[in-house]
Amino acid sequence: MSLELKGITKSFGALVANDGIDLSVNRGEIHAILGENGAGKSTLMNIVYGLLQPDSGEIRVDGKVVTIHEPSDALAVGIGMVHQHFMLIPVFTVLENIVLGHESTSKIGKLKLSEAREKLLALAADFGFEIDPDAYIENLPVGVQQRVEILKALIYDAKVLILDEPTAVLTPQETDELIEVMKRLRSQGTSIIFISHKLREVKAVSDRITVIRRGKVVASADPSSSQEELASLMVGRPVNLMPDKKRPNPGAPILEVKDLVVLDPSGRPLVSDVSFTVHAGEVLAIAGVQGNGQSELAEAVVNLQAHIRGSIELGGVQLIGKSVHDSLHEGIAYVPESRELDGLIGSFSIAENLILDTHREAPYAKGITLSPKAVATRAEVQVKEFDIRAQSIQDPVTSLSGGNKQKVVLARELSRPVKLLVASQPTRGLDVGSIEFVHERILAERDAGRAVLLFSTELDEVTALADRIAVMYAGKILAIVDATVSREELGLLMAGVKK
Ligand SMILES: Nc1ncnc2c1ncn2[C@@H]1O[C@H](COP(=O)(O)OP(=O)(O)OP(=O)(O)O)[C@@H](O)[C@H]1O
Ligand SMILES: [Mg+2]
Repeated sequence: MSLELKGITKSFGALVANDGIDLSVNRGEIHAILGENGAGKSTLMNIVYGLLQPDSGEIRVDGKVVTIHEPSDALAVGIGMVHQHFMLIPVFTVLENIVLGHESTSKIGKLKLSEAREKLLALAADFGFEIDPDAYIENLPVGVQQRVEILKALIYDAKVLILDEPTAVLTPQETDELIEVMKRLRSQGTSIIFISHKLREVKAVSDRITVIRRGKVVASADPSSSQEELASLMVGRPVNLMPDKKRPNPGAPILEVKDLVVLDPSGRPLVSDVSFTVHAGEVLAIAGVQGNGQSELAEAVVNLQAHIRGSIELGGVQLIGKSVHDSLHEGIAYVPESRELDGLIGSFSIAENLILDTHREAPYAKGITLSPKAVATRAEVQVKEFDIRAQSIQDPVTSLSGGNKQKVVLARELSRPVKLLVASQPTRGLDVGSIEFVHERILAERDAGRAVLLFSTELDEVTALADRIAVMYAGKILAIVDATVSREELGLLMAGVKK
């Protein structure tokens, strides 16, 4: 099936998110869309999938104009989508999620539970996925949740599959597996629209690339273009993909973690006997395959984990036993892994989200209320500095694009005068230009004498920023190595192999 978009235009108030976009996707083609945070990629895909209505323009399937008012219309003509933020319901099972929302849609027919189960199992077997139809979504790793999303599209015979940043939350291994699935679908004639900020993958898998900037198509690029070429097409200027790192000048110990144990509610250790020190003026990266205790360790440092034992000292002050608020107040800036859940308050404005931790302090607090002027002044400065693409700082933070939400958390946390920065996956979902900026900013924090504890599953990021690298495996720190370690050795350590 071929898909053609002609002159798609969509405005939100004064902002033109899509400005006369033309795009054609051939049968059996992987077509990548590249663009900065806020360029309009998700908006365009939501239009194709029927979640948004365009102001003007048309969508053609195999040459014929189609009307898509809602997702069931899209599915009926063979268009499926996996969203940037998963749309599954955590307390429902895999099977329930798959039939959900389509029970009443006559156009694609009612799929009975028993029928759906059979189709699901057949499809999963076909792709070599291990899926338990009765497992609850909330108990599944993200990589598996995403497969459920993909199967949900395929079970309704999607011939054009839209994948909006599918790899942002995947481990490198899960990404490789997804790429295999994409190639397999392509060989069966399915077309894929692939959105990603990771240029390495885009080059590896796509047949054609379209670049969007500020709502307009600005270029078509060949997958053989270099990462630098693609980056500058996207951002409109040259991008330095590798930050310049000065020699480290480590000072006194700032964070000292000793014999730390984190247990799950049933008493099983998630982090076992972990000890390390981060000095002033140093970046210590915690690397490892996702799910080896890094998230729990990051949360433990700011007291977001309940069952912990051992010692965590910040500048000589014991943090264990303190509340999250008091721990942060000892001088920690914290960029959480899941900002949608922990980093932002959706119903608050962008400006309010920018002062979440400091709202009780001057100059923002005025008695028990906030000073709107002080809040706005600070927000304007940060929006500019971090290039947060927003129409108004008074808009709800939910109106921002995925990457721009992330920038709100970063702007808030990287602007606080602290001793220690704890950053979990700080550049997840960011475009290459923003990654360049955040990397420079993290190194500036280090050069200003702060201690930085970085959690990242991106090897390139770890080696670019870290002075020392601690590799976690099965809840333990397997080794702490110098940042000059080779990619191969790091890969082996991450797989649990110690020489
Ligand atoms: N419901 C909405 N109301 C107001 N503005 C919106 C809404 N949805 C999107 N926008 C704006 O439209 C622009 C395009 O957003 P979109 O989500 O399409 O970007 P994107 O290219 O997917 O970015 P990212 O890479 O960060 O995911 C942004 O400036 C965003 O703030
Ligand atoms: Mg998006």
